[in-house]
Amino acid sequence: MAGDAYKGPSKSLQNGEKIGDGDQYPEFDIAVDPVEGTSYLAKGMTNAMAVIAMAPKGTLFEPGPSFYMEKFAAPKEARGKIDPNAPTEDKLIALAKALGKPVSELTVFVLEKPRHNEMVESIYRAGARVALYPAGDVGGALMAAIPDSGIDALMGTGGTPEGILSACAIRAMGGVFFARLDPQLMSEKAAIKAEGLDTTHWHSVEDLVRSRQVYFSATGITTGLLFSGIEQTPGLERTQSLIISGATGERQLLTTYHKLSDEASAMDREVINA
Ligand code: FBP
Repeated sequence: MAGDAYKGPSKSLQNGEKIGDGDQYPEFDIAVDPVEGTSYLAKGMTNAMAVIAMAPKGTLFEPGPSFYMEKFAAPKEARGKIDPNAPTEDKLIALAKALGKPVSELTVFVLEKPRHNEMVESIYRAGARVALYPAGDVGGALMAAIPDSGIDALMGTGGTPEGILSACAIRAMGGVFFARLDPQLMSEKAAIKAEGLDTTHWHSVEDLVRSRQVYFSATGITTGLLFSGIEQTPGLERTQSLIISGATGERQLLTTYHKLSDEASAMDREVINA
């Protein structure tokens, strides 16, 4: 993702960092989160995934100094039917109508954070269910947009890079996604103010990803609700990836058996025989 100019080598990609040899066309913007759900992975919990999205150069939203965004995601039936500025209860009433079911049958994915206490209360007041997750709102946004996933909407504030990744997935497969900058850190608030960025403006998914030629891939690291995590057998590693192409709107669940190198296989065998 573009942003401050990249100033030198680092272990992770920086905003604005250029990769590739520079001679090859076409050029792409990429958004990447090598471990979405770091805490899940560190604690051996489900739902950690590696995520990447790409779209033609200049078409992904530039997050500037923003770390946090408030997000809303829902299935495509709700397109054009939700007012981003409406109170939580009204959004849920409109969503239920669009999905043809009562509010009491809606389940809303929310990150379990103190900043969401009031929103969670509003969701309960509206009569909907809340699925509280400690982390991983890219998975939440994907589930919100995928029919019959058990999640009807994602609401609340999470990371901006995760917001761009979610926008890419939903732009590619169809669905509702909108977001506004919602700084949480003092330094972030100051930087956003200094740049004169508007925190009240809700960006549509078309603002965040200005091309339909967007490609998204998420690979399970630990097993989650959408796909399996990495499974190791002697000589092979099995991964599952959800791949979404904006060119066709198709979703594929790809299972890959990676052949480990002889050296890695040998190490594997040693561990198994130990
Ligand atoms: P990482 O594992 O990539 O750090 O992100 C996990 C995550 O839960 C995201 O899904 C979410 O957008 C963000 O962190 C929320 O940040 P915070 O935990 O600081 O509220």
